[in-house]
Amino acid sequence: MSSHRRLGRSALLAATLAATLLGSATAVTLADDADAATSLRSLAAATGRDVGFALAVDRISEPAYRAVADEEFSLVVAENAMKWDSVEPVRGQFRWTSSDVVADYATTTGKKLYGHTLVWHQALPSWVSTLPADQLRAAMRHHITTVVDRYEGRVAAWDVVNEAFSDNGDGSRRGDSVFQQKLGNGYLAEAFTTARAADPDVDLCLNDYSIEGVNAKSNAVYNLVKSFKATGVPIDCVGFQGHFVLGQVPADFQANLQRFADLGVDVRITELDVRVPLPADANELAQQAADYRKVWQACLAVTRCRGVTTWGLTDRYSWIPEFFSGQGAALMFDENYAPKPAYRAVAEALGAAPTPTPTTPTPTPTLPPPGCSVTYVPNSWNTGFTAEVRVRNDGPATVDGWTVRFAFTSGQTVTGGWNATVTQSGTQVTARNAAWNGTLAPGGTVSFGFQGTHGGTNASPTLFTLNGATCRHG
Ligand code: XIL
Repeated sequence: MSSHRRLGRSALLAATLAATLLGSATAVTLADDADAATSLRSLAAATGRDVGFALAVDRISEPAYRAVADEEFSLVVAENAMKWDSVEPVRGQFRWTSSDVVADYATTTGKKLYGHTLVWHQALPSWVSTLPADQLRAAMRHHITTVVDRYEGRVAAWDVVNEAFSDNGDGSRRGDSVFQQKLGNGYLAEAFTTARAADPDVDLCLNDYSIEGVNAKSNAVYNLVKSFKATGVPIDCVGFQGHFVLGQVPADFQANLQRFADLGVDVRITELDVRVPLPADANELAQQAADYRKVWQACLAVTRCRGVTTWGLTDRYSWIPEFFSGQGAALMFDENYAPKPAYRAVAEALGAAPTPTPTTPTPTPTLPPPGCSVTYVPNSWNTGFTAEVRVRNDGPATVDGWTVRFAFTSGQTVTGGWNATVTQSGTQVTARNAAWNGTLAPGGTVSFGFQGTHGGTNASPTLFTLNGATCRHG
């Protein structure tokens, strides 16, 4: 059975399409599997979870991107198109072109639409930062109300406030937010209350990063949610961004999700990616798969976890290389849209049958036809060495005149020989019989040798031929 059999059909389609477009050979194999299982989208649906991706508006017209997006995901969030600077670049002038692309995409494909984000210290047009406090408050309220109104009934949940807490992780409020600076702690409750007034039904979330484990920052978020609940400030969910360093999904991730859920809010992984130093090797991709699996397993183990969204779709387009120099390959689909080990790990976490470990076909031993055997015995010192080569004629016929060839691998140079004429060209060495030892009867042996210099390990050659036929060792 092919190792690709259990891939989602949609991944196969997408990868096939991508291959067609991009000339990748990868998907040719994938496309052979007509009995492929099912997409992440349907697997996730069976668990009652959303599997989401952040949509980059200017990529959706690319057929391969669109194919993977359509088939694999059940939730879409705008990577940038619903941020403040995109929808209200000029005070009071709203521009819905990009945000509508995302909303319309969700509608036409039947996907859940997640809103990101209403209030954030970044992606903020400069006019916002220059306002005095009272006007800033009014602008914030107006912005929230207008954007929430526009997508009322279409957005399932909004990240009302994004990254309210300090980057230093100590649990303090973010000092570099104009909202925090001018409006103080109270802007958070005010933002949530304003959003609730605009749409009584939409879920209202607080979203942040580095709060996946139990730590000072997640404690602070926890205490804020707890106080909102205690004082009647509307809050429905907490988003854990999940921008992970390879191998660093915290051990207490699930427990942390659970303690938030126990406060009476939904939880969700909102921006998952697992960044890898480039170029990513097979071991790193396997670790990444384990990380993705762990994230999904944690979500599945917490009843109030609504799903997992990756921050992007393909390694071809991801924010990671731009923001984390030398790192990337953070998503489930590679640069050619082929599903990575992380994809399979997620499918399996969601209940797909385990993918059989790809079996490398056992190589058929390629024994040379009976012809010759060789032993090579080097004797090395510092940078010099000698080597004794013994060749046996294993064939049925007498050899009349012989040429033995082999190649060096680690910087050796022949300086002279005995019992043979030994010459070297690049790494290739050729030894021809001397006048007195050119005849080798069946079963007969001949020894010759040479001296030389070496630059490193003086590794022994591995492949020898006698008159063009490959010799056995021994
Ligand atoms: C990132 C986008 O992916 C980039 O394209 C953009 O240049 C900067 O913002 N946390 C968030 C997201 O909440 O909005 C950020 O998205 C990534 C970090």
